[in-house]
Amino acid sequence: MAYTIAIDGPAAAGKGTISKAIASHYGFHHLDTGLLYRAIGAQVLQGHDAVDAAKALVAEDLDPSRLRTPDVADAASQVAVIPDVRSALTEFQRRFARRMPGAVLDGRDIGTVICPDAEAKLFVTASAEVRAERRFRELSENGHTESLAEVLADVKARDARDSERTTSPLRPARDAIHIDTSDLSIDEAVAAAIAVIDARRD
Ligand code: CDP
Repeated sequence: MAYTIAIDGPAAAGKGTISKAIASHYGFHHLDTGLLYRAIGAQVLQGHDAVDAAKALVAEDLDPSRLRTPDVADAASQVAVIPDVRSALTEFQRRFARRMPGAVLDGRDIGTVICPDAEAKLFVTASAEVRAERRFRELSENGHTESLAEVLADVKARDARDSERTTSPLRPARDAIHIDTSDLSIDEAVAAAIAVIDARRD
């Protein structure tokens, strides 16, 4: 049977970095589900209908280099409140989660809605200030000019929208283990996540 690891948490908490490292550690597949919503958000910015875009999504739409911009992140969290957008993506994510020998999925509702039976669930957080600082550095390195204050405002606005929506809101699953990465390096955060998963696997 495939082993599924669900990793959820607020914007820029380090889920992507941790998920990639964990997938590589265990030899599992990795799906950044945020890219699905970002791809739809990007299409809406180009004038397409969100639900049509969700139903027609293909792998070529998921090129991260085009999708990691503040505008697309904001558009992603706006399309993510639409129930028909979310349901159009559910089956794909569930099938991915059962890929052998295992899969790591990161997002907002993986442990609660997409894979409630995942073998291991993590909820990765950090203070809004630390998350904004990390995202600011990442965006600056890629040539974006937003100020730290703008990035902090974006992170907080997205967290509020993601937490307050009716369908699949951002919240930890009851059985998720919380990891606060505010004071952890990337290596420490990855080691903490692996320790939690190893304990579950034993
Ligand atoms: O990288 P970051 O944490 O900033 O965001 P992301 O994971 O790429 O997700 C972008 C947006 O997609 C989020 O703000 C959510 O609104 C939405 N999303 C969601 O609703 N459900 C998921 N499973 C993943 C992302």
